[in-house]
Amino acid sequence: MIPLAVPNLSGNEAVYLKECIDSGFVSSVGPFVGRFERMVAQAAGAPLAVATASGTAGLHVALVALGVGPGDLVLVPGLTFIASANAVSYCGAQPWLVDIDPDTWNLDAELLEELLTHECDVRCGRVRHKKTGQRVAAIMPVHILGDPADMDRIVPLAHRFGLPVVADGAAALGASYRGKKVGDLGADLTVFSFNGNKTITCGGGGAVVGSREEWMQRIRHLSTTARLGEAYDHDQVGFNYRLTNLQAAVGCAQLERLDDLVGKKRWVREYYRQAFADLDAVSPFPQSVHGQSAAWFSGIVLHHPSPEVASALRQFLRQQGVEAKPFWKPLHLQDPYRKAPTTRQHVSEDVWYRIVVLPCSTTVTAQELDHVVAQVRQGLSDLMP
Ligand SMILES: Cc1ncc(COP(=O)(O)O)c(C=O)c1O
Repeated sequence: MIPLAVPNLSGNEAVYLKECIDSGFVSSVGPFVGRFERMVAQAAGAPLAVATASGTAGLHVALVALGVGPGDLVLVPGLTFIASANAVSYCGAQPWLVDIDPDTWNLDAELLEELLTHECDVRCGRVRHKKTGQRVAAIMPVHILGDPADMDRIVPLAHRFGLPVVADGAAALGASYRGKKVGDLGADLTVFSFNGNKTITCGGGGAVVGSREEWMQRIRHLSTTARLGEAYDHDQVGFNYRLTNLQAAVGCAQLERLDDLVGKKRWVREYYRQAFADLDAVSPFPQSVHGQSAAWFSGIVLHHPSPEVASALRQFLRQQGVEAKPFWKPLHLQDPYRKAPTTRQHVSEDVWYRIVVLPCSTTVTAQELDHVVAQVRQGLSDLMP
């Protein structure tokens, strides 16, 4: 089976892990954690980073640090991994689901502007959802599949309404937008994931990057059970959200090869784009308009409107030794978020089930990709003769 996305651990991972074991520093106290934070900040183009136990933990603690609380609304794209919305729910807040742009699959900035202008008002500096009276507390664009959202439209809008921006850049480390790195696009905080299927992995892990010292200190404090000094004094209910030295050791080795690994992901994306360019039945994943995507996942979008066709193609591919997977189901169709406030979701509803994610590991060879391409072509001609 050609796997969908497996970690590439062929650098210094084992050497650094052995250093942790030999030194006894295996928990969140240890030299690799600080080193990892400096490397993440540099790779993201941000001054400061705090490593966290996961991307979800990073999103949660970022929202808490910005004051998102019970009853609030946070604007989130309708098509994202459920963790983006779950982080909002952990705060006692609710995601307000905004449809995506058909060309980029990122948060539709025009729709966002419409919502803020027509469905909200501003009272005493607070943005209020007119219909429910709920406070709108933040905007969370997601850099989908590693492709930055249109931050030059979203950030000025956020400033106009006085809203903080927490960008979910889970898979976007290594991406750029209008010549800038992904952690330098005007979001107050940007969060990355380093779980096992990400281009850069720590096994599990995350990081929050930003430039405002006060917020970053708060995030570090909250992630470390809000502990004060050496004694067991805690000034609030904090979280045990720190990354361990073991995870950071793997992460450091991975980050040493960031350019190569992201380069390989882009190569796979381009390979599929060219290989299927002559087919009328499919489109490639969106191409970055304003910069370079980190191209986390790759695949195709079927034009056939029936969900059964995409599902049958995935099944056929698995039978031929190609691991093909569906993509995220939009949040408004998920049980926990069926009642969340939402805009129309035409775009997310129309696209998600036609997506076929194809093998895109950084270890994949051209020969393997040729096999994938041949099997996709075969499957399409069997299913849609
Ligand atoms: C868009 C998005 N947000 C958040 C997350 C959550 O990250 P983690 O799995 O590290 O908690 C992921 C990870 O898969 C993701 O893809």
